[in-house]
Amino acid sequence: MRRIFIFAAVIMTVGSLTLTNGQNADSKTAVPAADTTALSGAAVDSLLISAANQAISQFSSQLQTSLKVALDDGGPLNAVNVCNVVAPDIQTAHVRDGWFLERVTAKPRNRNNQADSVQLAILAQFASAADAPTFIAQWNDPVKREKFRFYRPIRTNELCAGCHGDPASFVAGLTEELKTLYPDDKAVGYKSGDLRGMFAIEVMWPEGMNYAQKLAASAKRDTK
Ligand code: HEC
Repeated sequence: MRRIFIFAAVIMTVGSLTLTNGQNADSKTAVPAADTTALSGAAVDSLLISAANQAISQFSSQLQTSLKVALDDGGPLNAVNVCNVVAPDIQTAHVRDGWFLERVTAKPRNRNNQADSVQLAILAQFASAADAPTFIAQWNDPVKREKFRFYRPIRTNELCAGCHGDPASFVAGLTEELKTLYPDDKAVGYKSGDLRGMFAIEVMWPEGMNYAQKLAASAKRDTK
């Protein structure tokens, strides 16, 4: 319920980019594939929100598992190389079937993860202290409903400090290694709980429907 409430609040703050709320939304909107006509606008919205959250859970757990194994094996100096290769690979695996998922930030380590101007505005909403939304969901055009966007903040915890915290606390050799791999690294100086960036998802509709249903089904299995 809290989710739904926050979501409603987000719709209001996001202003013109709203999700229409069902009932009369489906008959006139452009959803050509035969089997999507059975879904109301509200059902599509909740399917996509559930699927997007599941895609993010999968991405996070894959990355955190690799990160933990690599940290246990050889500390941050070893893990930084794993992150360097594994993070882009995991991202690639999540770009499929009308879905695009990326992590973006205002202060990137890898410059491919620089947020664009639209994304920076969303990040600013997540950064605003007490009333920051837990996620933001939008259609590019609330009537045409061709592209769905979903954003969720990424905040740091203790696990991140070894590579994104105060460089003075880094293990020997890490600063040099980061300089070699990422000459314009901006992703340091974070404290636990800081906004590090966000997940940004784009789903083409209805192309992304099959994968959305797969993700939503696996989310249901996970919560059983
Ligand atoms: C072992 C070192 C290491 C640790 C620990 C680590 N990261 Fe990173 N992080 C990296 C590297 C290296 C990259 C660049 C990956 C790439 O090239 O795509 C990165 C990139 C990122 C990015 C993508 C944006 C950017 O700056 O390029 C985010 C978001 C991020 N890390 C968040 C976190 C969070 C949150 C934690 C803690 C849960 C964490 N990282 C822990 C090394 C680390």
